Amino acid sequence: MTVPKGSIGRVLVGAEELAVRVRELGAQITEDYAGRSPLLVGVLKGAFVFMSDLARAIRLPVEIDFMAVSSYGASTKSSGVVRIVKDLDLDVAGRDVLLVEDIVDSGATLSYLLRFLDERQPASLKVCALLVRDRGGTDEIEYVGFSVPDDFVVGYGLDVAERYRELNSISVFEPADSASLPT
Ligand code: IMP
Ligand code: MG
Repeated sequence: MTVPKGSIGRVLVGAEELAVRVRELGAQITEDYAGRSPLLVGVLKGAFVFMSDLARAIRLPVEIDFMAVSSYGASTKSSGVVRIVKDLDLDVAGRDVLLVEDIVDSGATLSYLLRFLDERQPASLKVCALLVRDRGGTDEIEYVGFSVPDDFVVGYGLDVAERYRELNSISVFEPADSASLPT
């Protein structure tokens, strides 16, 4: 993996703000799923940090599973074709499934996953996305952390070429030249 050429720019969402919002989402989910035991399905790898904090902000017995997806082809962003790299370990039939995403950009990954999961007949299927693009298209997302502009963002699980996932804040990645963004 080549090191991305560029640098970390302005902070979009700071660590404190993230912590506050994750607590709010956890409280809302706790209320909405009272008496039930939701199955949180995280989308690897980007959702791993958010998922970890969110699970601990929910005051209910939750279960955890992960899926991994990748986009086909060279121009992954626009292709809209998604491939399952890691399927679920658990059976979602009859479960209250909450799909946990890092960022919903075009929505292609999300639509694919929703169709995929829905075929397995969960009792309910909802989405919790930490970030969504502020250009819209969030109708099918029940829980949203923050709306963000079109800049490429990293940190708190999100990467550019596998770097910066460990950062505590979400920041804009400033490419050295526009060709250095991977997608
Ligand atoms: P979509 O299918 O276009 O909605 O793309 C969603 C996926 O693209 C996310 O789950 C991320 O893995 C990736 N992605 C989109 N925008 C960004 C970004 O700004 N930073 C890091 N990853 C991103
Ligand atoms: Mg992702």
